[in-house]
Amino acid sequence: MNDINREFVSHDEALARAEAGVAKLAATRNDRWYPKFHIASNGGWINDPNGLCYYRGRWHVYYQLHPYSTQWGSCHWGHVSSDDMITWKREPIAFAPSLEADRDGVFSGSAVTGDDGRLWVFYTGHRWANGVDDADDNLEVQCAAVSDDGVHFEKLGVIIDNPKGFRHFRDPKVWKQDGMWYMVFGMSTADARGEVLLYSSENMRIWHFEQVLFRHPNPGVYMLECPDFFPVTDKDGNEKWVIGFSAMGSKPSGFMNRNANNAGYMIGTWEPGGQFTPETEFRLWDCGHNFYAPQSFNTVAGDTDDNTDGRQIMYGWYSPFVQPIPLDDEGWCGQLTLPREVFLGEDGDIHTVPAAEMAGLREDSTDLGVVEVKSGTETVVAENAEAMEIEMTIDLKNTTADRAGIKVHATPDGSYTYVAYDDQIGGIVLDRQANAFGDRGYRVAPLTADELAADQLTLRIYVDRGSVEVYVNDGHQTMSSYSYAADGPRAVKLVAESGDLTVASLTLHNLKSIGLE
Ligand code: FRU
Repeated sequence: MNDINREFVSHDEALARAEAGVAKLAATRNDRWYPKFHIASNGGWINDPNGLCYYRGRWHVYYQLHPYSTQWGSCHWGHVSSDDMITWKREPIAFAPSLEADRDGVFSGSAVTGDDGRLWVFYTGHRWANGVDDADDNLEVQCAAVSDDGVHFEKLGVIIDNPKGFRHFRDPKVWKQDGMWYMVFGMSTADARGEVLLYSSENMRIWHFEQVLFRHPNPGVYMLECPDFFPVTDKDGNEKWVIGFSAMGSKPSGFMNRNANNAGYMIGTWEPGGQFTPETEFRLWDCGHNFYAPQSFNTVAGDTDDNTDGRQIMYGWYSPFVQPIPLDDEGWCGQLTLPREVFLGEDGDIHTVPAAEMAGLREDSTDLGVVEVKSGTETVVAENAEAMEIEMTIDLKNTTADRAGIKVHATPDGSYTYVAYDDQIGGIVLDRQANAFGDRGYRVAPLTADELAADQLTLRIYVDRGSVEVYVNDGHQTMSSYSYAADGPRAVKLVAESGDLTVASLTLHNLKSIGLE
C-alpha cells in the first residue's frame, strides 16, 4: 500500500501545470456555444459532475477535467463554488494525478462532511495496467482526501484496494445512515457483469465489504458507472430507495438506451444489511442525446449548516457520445446540466425539475398569454434568444396538429432545433434535423396514456448558447441535447403542422449569466 501511495510528482506542481493547461486552452476559446448559465470549464474537456456538496456555507461542484485538450484524457477535478447556486465562482483545480495510485487519473467520486467536520472526498485512483492505455485493462482503487475549505485537499491515499482481477472498479458514492458510513461503487465481474458493491465503515478510513447491492439483470451490461443510491418518500409516506447507474453495454430498444452508454434508475426497497429489491423496470433519467453520469446529493446529509432543506439535487453531464461533436477546435468541450431536484411524484415515478434557485436566473420576462398557431404557419415569439427559459403550456384539447411546438436557435440560414409535441408518436420530440453543425438526429420522450389524455401539457425549455434542456410535465421527462446554433440572431418560433396549435400560456424569460464566462 505504501508504494502505491507514493508521490510521483508533487500535487502542487501537478495542479499548477494543469492550471496553465486550462489557461492556454481558455485563451483560444470560441464563445459561440460556450454556456451562459450551465457550468463548464474555462478551457479543456469536462465530463462527470463529482463531489457535489454544501459545505461551510457554499455549494461546491467539482467535475472530471482534462486540462490539456478538448478530448477526454488524464482526469483531474475542476471546481466551482457558489453561495446561492445561481452565481458561481471559479476555484483552483482540486485534484491532479500525483500518487502512484491515481497516476493515470483522479476519477469520479463524491464528497461528504465527515464526523470531524472536515470535507471528505472519495474518488477512484485510476492506472492503466500497461502504463499507457486501456489495451490491457486498468487498475482501479478507491482513495480519500480531506479538506477544511473545500478548495485545498490533502490526499490520504488508498482506502479500498482492488482485489486482483476486477476490471472496472470505480466511482464511490458515500453517505451516512444510522451512525454508519456507506459506500457504493460500480464494478465489472470476471464474467463481465455490471454490479454495484456496498461497503460500510465506522470511521471513514477502514471499510468493509458488505455485499453485492445490485447485479444488473442484463448479461450484456458489463459495467455500472457512477452508481447513486438514495431514499425518497412516496405519496403514502413510505420510504423507497432509488438506485441510479450509468450502464455500459445496454442496447437501444424503442425509445430506450439510444446513447452509447445510458444513465437511469430503478425504484425499490432496501434496508441496511440487505440487497436492493427493485420494484420498477429501468427508466432513463433523461431522454436527450447528451446526458450521462449524473450524481445527486442531499442538502441535509452530513451538514449542520443553515441551508439544509433536505432536497435531493442532481447534476448530469452533457455527454458528447453521439458524434460528431464540433467542439474540438473551440478551446472547451462539455458542460453540466442545470441542478435538478429529484422527487417521487404522485404518479409514483421520479420527477426531476430545475432547482428552485433557477428562477433567480430570470432577468426579464414576457408573458404572451394565449397564442393560436394555424396549421402550416410559424409565429416568431423572440427575435434573438441566446439564453432563455421558455414556459409553455399546450392546450391539448384544442390542439389538432399532428406535430406542433417550438423552434429554437432558428438562424437566418434556416437552421433550428425543434422541440415538438408529436401526437402520432405520443411523445415530445427533440429534433436536430435542421442543425448546421453536429449530429442531426432526433430523440423522443414518450408520454404516458394519462399525459396524452390530459387537457394540458407543460414544457419548460432552457435554451443556452449551445444546448437545449427540456422539462416535460413537471419534470416527468427531461431531455438534454447539444444544439450548435449557426451564425446570426437566434429566433424562437411557434410551429403547427397538419392541424392547429393552441398554447394556453407562454412566458419567455431572458436569463443572466452564472458568472463563469
Ligand atoms: C463516467 C466515467 C467514470 C469515471 C470517469 C472518468 O463517464 O467513465 O466511470 O470515473 O468517467 O473520467
